[in-house]
Amino acid sequence: MEHNEYEYHNPVLLKETVDGLNIKPDGVYVDVTFGGGGHSKEIMRRLGPNGKLFAFDQDTDALANALDDERFTLINENFRFIKRFLRVYGIKQVDGILGDFGVSSHQFDVAERGFSTRFEADLDMRMNQNGNLSAYEVINDYEENALSKVFFSYGELSNARGLAAAIVTARKTEPIKNSEQLKKVLAKFLPAHKSNKILAQIYQAIRIEVNQEIDVLREFLEQSLELLKPGGRLSVISYHSLEDRLVKRFIKNGMFEGEPERDFYGRFEVPFDTIGKLIVPSAEEIKINNRARSAKLRIAEKK
Ligand SMILES: C[S@@+](CC[C@H](N)C(=O)[O-])C[C@H]1O[C@@H](n2cnc3c(N)ncnc32)[C@H](O)[C@@H]1O
Repeated sequence: MEHNEYEYHNPVLLKETVDGLNIKPDGVYVDVTFGGGGHSKEIMRRLGPNGKLFAFDQDTDALANALDDERFTLINENFRFIKRFLRVYGIKQVDGILGDFGVSSHQFDVAERGFSTRFEADLDMRMNQNGNLSAYEVINDYEENALSKVFFSYGELSNARGLAAAIVTARKTEPIKNSEQLKKVLAKFLPAHKSNKILAQIYQAIRIEVNQEIDVLREFLEQSLELLKPGGRLSVISYHSLEDRLVKRFIKNGMFEGEPERDFYGRFEVPFDTIGKLIVPSAEEIKINNRARSAKLRIAEKK
């Protein structure tokens, strides 16, 4: 199968991620990153007439893909509020939660959203088109230290300080409004042979900050633990090492830092059983879907 650029989104690790949910036909499931609905459609296929699927996407573009099925509900909100919005539908506990974080191919392909290094666009990168923080504010308003931290932590860029300093100097003359200006300001850090890679890291860092992706992930994981029934499954794909580290630690310990308490016998009291090992896409999948290349799938079962 060739990658079809007109497809909304080619779902990553489709079978593996949905298998991870261990679907009960009459269970209640949540897909927190609906996008083009690839994973949701597969969940629906495995649900019986009494099963339910709630999906989240904060991007209004995703609404066009809503599935026409009475067992399905699409919630146009940030999944950092998963508990609150499920409550609106009377749902307090669920059998499984799927997450496929980051940006959809559709978002990358719409030039004016500003996610892709391929196009000229204003600095935006908001997944929620009504969000208050865009790439413009990050680039033009953040203090040098904060900017440098964004590049270092989220872009894993060793010259984060230099990048931040160049931006702060340039914006004293005029605001940096679009991708062309940004590239010009950072030109000396973008040698021809590595320019695409470095630019992608810079964009990734700005995007994670704009969408507060790390804070959102932490809040989501904590709420998932509360929402899952005993025996319920968490099946999540991350694309960034920081995200994967948080998911891994949370699954292992039920917390992000430190060590869990020990029980009477000195064993760690942890809320999840890890299911299987870390799953990554095959070389064939990466060949037909480049977006899959950094995907890491982890599956856990609530005790
Ligand atoms: C990688 S795509 C998911 C693709 C989907 N699994 C499919 O098969 O089509 C991620 C989607 O999640 C959405 N998203 C990312 N972070 C979100 C958040 N915090 N709250 C709600 N939606 C979010 C994005 O808008 C995007 O559409």
